[in-house]
Amino acid sequence: MEGNKLFWKLGAFAKFDFKRFGQDAERLKVIRHKPTVADLENGKAKDLKEEKKLSTEATSSVHNNKKNKKKKKKAKKKTSQLASMKNEEEIRHLRNKHHIHTSGSDIPNPLRDFDELKIIYGVKDVVLHNIEEQGYKEPTGIQRQAIPVMMQGRDLMACAPTGCGKTAAFIIPILHHLKAPQSDGFRALILAPTRELAKQTLREFRKLSKGLGLRSCYIEKESTALKKSKENFDILVTTPNRLVYMLQQSPPILSINNVEWLVVDESDKLFEAGKRGFRDQLGAIYKACSSPKIHRAMFSATFAQDVEEWCKLNLDNVVQVYIGAKNTATNTVDQRLVFTGDEGGKLIAFRNLIREGISPPVLVFVQSKERAKHLYTELMYDNINIDVIHSDRPQVQRDDVIKNFRIGQTWVLICTELMGRGIDFKGVNLVINYDFPTSAISYIHRIGRTGRAGRTGKAITFFTEEDKVNLRSIANMIHQAGCPVPEYMSAIKKPARQERKRLANHVPERKPILTMDPREYERIKRKRKFSHKPKQKSVKRVKKDS
Ligand SMILES: Nc1ncnc2c1ncn2[C@@H]1O[C@H](COP(=O)(O)OP(=O)(O)OP(=O)(O)O)[C@@H](O)[C@H]1O
Ligand SMILES: [Mg+2]
Repeated sequence: MEGNKLFWKLGAFAKFDFKRFGQDAERLKVIRHKPTVADLENGKAKDLKEEKKLSTEATSSVHNNKKNKKKKKKAKKKTSQLASMKNEEEIRHLRNKHHIHTSGSDIPNPLRDFDELKIIYGVKDVVLHNIEEQGYKEPTGIQRQAIPVMMQGRDLMACAPTGCGKTAAFIIPILHHLKAPQSDGFRALILAPTRELAKQTLREFRKLSKGLGLRSCYIEKESTALKKSKENFDILVTTPNRLVYMLQQSPPILSINNVEWLVVDESDKLFEAGKRGFRDQLGAIYKACSSPKIHRAMFSATFAQDVEEWCKLNLDNVVQVYIGAKNTATNTVDQRLVFTGDEGGKLIAFRNLIREGISPPVLVFVQSKERAKHLYTELMYDNINIDVIHSDRPQVQRDDVIKNFRIGQTWVLICTELMGRGIDFKGVNLVINYDFPTSAISYIHRIGRTGRAGRTGKAITFFTEEDKVNLRSIANMIHQAGCPVPEYMSAIKKPARQERKRLANHVPERKPILTMDPREYERIKRKRKFSHKPKQKSVKRVKKDS
């Protein structure tokens, strides 16, 4: 038993003299020790020492804390710097990989994938689903950079090779901006140089906007325009001539006052002045888009310097995006030049190609509708599924020709520049330039009908003695794309700038293609006209999307 417990037991009920036995009581811990003065002084010193120790410890720990905090802050800064450097590096790598070049201020980062459309910009799931339905797994170079620029509502000038998906690059941000149908009239206007291209773009709009309820249209005739002006549409895809005609009526057939997005596809073509260009019409449309909310985007595979300058001066804080080298042919096409001597030699060379075996679909370009008709008449009994398209054919026939070519019923399609720009026939294997293009720009667009969306294609260009003036620039282009060209071609003297301009706007005089008796040709023509009489379905209505 412990001492103090025993003491308590023994002393129970006994009175204890604490004064007398105080020390014993203290020893046995019955009472607490009372501190003496000396004790107190001793303890104070101890406490002070302890306090001092604690306080020095505390100050050093505060100091350490501060140091640690600073260290942590520094480390955090460094990590965020490293992360941003890594991000910048990644962005640079992405741009290099896709040959994206930009000019302008505050350019948004390119897209890493389509999912970023939702994560960064809040694009609706239904649009992502539509993109996926089209089989687009990864954005193409132009889509990676042009989409973010347009998403931010910036004016844009975009130059990217043929067949690389420029159409979706402007459709996706427009769908995001328009969001849902409204009754304010047209809020997006897309201009294209030909009716065929406008209709194709409209189809793309409808595919990508499925489920959004947005209503898009192409206006065929004045009567349909009148009717449609009373209905509500969000998106208008049209050619400049048709639109200007409708705007100039009194009162105007339709209004583009509320347009928030103006997209000029094939913009260098629409900027061309003169009989074959659309510059005046474009000017009138530009003025009529009077909404303060307007944003503009110019797209093409080629840009003339004056158009670039115009964009820099007139578009609002414009961002310029280039994919690859400017004004070059796509590198997915195997290109070849074939010397045929004279005009007669072309028909022989063409028949030789057919004999050697071609894999359809094949597009054959000639320089005029007259020559297109003649070549068709020469070849129509050659046992190949051949057809011809040009602006003299009625619209219903043009639609049928395109449809048959798309579904593979027509193997060889003879065409003019009408089909040179923007037209997207899936899987064209070969483009034949029966008539030499009048400019390098025309060449780029024509051969760009093959080798699209990452596929490969082939282009064969016939040339005669008379084509030597333009040969050099096109031979250089073929050489740049890594295809072989005879050395003497690059040694040909370059025509003066003025001469190049003249050549680009004038098709050369050529000997006729026809080898048959002209009377026989007239007879065939009459017969064909009769058999091609428009059918009843000529009044084709464009259905609303909603
Ligand atoms: N991200 C993508 N992945 C795969 N294919 C795509 C993608 N984007 C577009 N395409 C397809 O690429 C093809 C060419 O697209 P588009 O017609 O928009 O080319 P473009 O750049 O406008 O060419 P052009 O200069 O001839 O007008 C189309 O068939 C389109 O469906
Ligand atoms: Mg296009």
